[in-house]
Amino acid sequence: MGWEGARAVEIEPSLYAADFARLGDEVTALLDAGARVFHFDVGDGHFVEPITIGPVVLRAIAPLVSERGGLVDCHLMVEDPRRHIPQIAGAGGHSVTFHVEVGAVEQTAALAREHGLGVGVAFNPDTPVATAAEAAHLADICLCMSIYPGYSGQAFLPQALGRVRELRGLLGEGARIQVDGGIGPENIGAVRSAGANLFVAGSSIFGAGDPAAAFRELERAAG
Ligand code: DX5
Ligand code: ZN
Repeated sequence: MGWEGARAVEIEPSLYAADFARLGDEVTALLDAGARVFHFDVGDGHFVEPITIGPVVLRAIAPLVSERGGLVDCHLMVEDPRRHIPQIAGAGGHSVTFHVEVGAVEQTAALAREHGLGVGVAFNPDTPVATAAEAAHLADICLCMSIYPGYSGQAFLPQALGRVRELRGLLGEGARIQVDGGIGPENIGAVRSAGANLFVAGSSIFGAGDPAAAFRELERAAG
């Protein structure tokens, strides 16, 4: 599936927060609960401090998602996304979201398309919303970070609400606007009202005793 097959609202479990000793089981339980878009955070130790997960892990997980008609949305928190795109495609990823802060947005989007991948553009909390909006015509989704990228489990930055609202105003009704960082049942309704429709959730799903129940709770709270 590509982004065209995604529903109007998607809750995306962020696998970075999963129990890696049981990763396949975690993915399967969430597929059974109805999740179809999984968020996969690739961090290179440069653009963000930590080295996270990459193509080797993606190769194990992508088939589980593909066979159920789902999509793995790869968030490239890396300095040079072009270096990684061929491996992400080869490992079965469906879409890459890279940061406008690293530049070469047009070339990176073109390379991703050549590899048959969906495209997202992401921007950090201190990047002007207008900078991201200018790049959004190249992309299927636009990701407004609601934390500084790097780690799961950080608190939602409240200024993200106004930034999502501004982005929605600039992109118009049809755009897919994603929010990543600190999303939970207590704020997802407000983030949706501000104009987002794709919600990445790591610790609020995998930190719960029952991730499938936490996923369904987020769906309810999103309305
Ligand atoms: C962190 C990643 C996020 C992270 C979100 O930089 O981009 O996707 O896993 O985790 P939570 O939902 O716990 O903030
Ligand atoms: Zn992410």
